[in-house]
Amino acid sequence: MYVCLCHAITDTQIRQAVSQGDTSLKEVRQRLGVGDQCGKCSRMAMQIIQQQLELE
Ligand code: FES
Repeated sequence: MYVCLCHAITDTQIRQAVSQGDTSLKEVRQRLGVGDQCGKCSRMAMQIIQQQLELE
């Protein structure tokens, strides 16, 4: 599922970023660029990061 339409980033990519060591939206943003344009995806991206951190 696409989370960030500006950069065509999926929830799977965000989950993979967490699996590779990212622990915050800031870190995932630096890696993938999620949320750095319109910002509309930031809330959902944060929820996915949180969920994935709980699974790790
Ligand atoms: Fe992610 Fe616009 S949808 S920055």
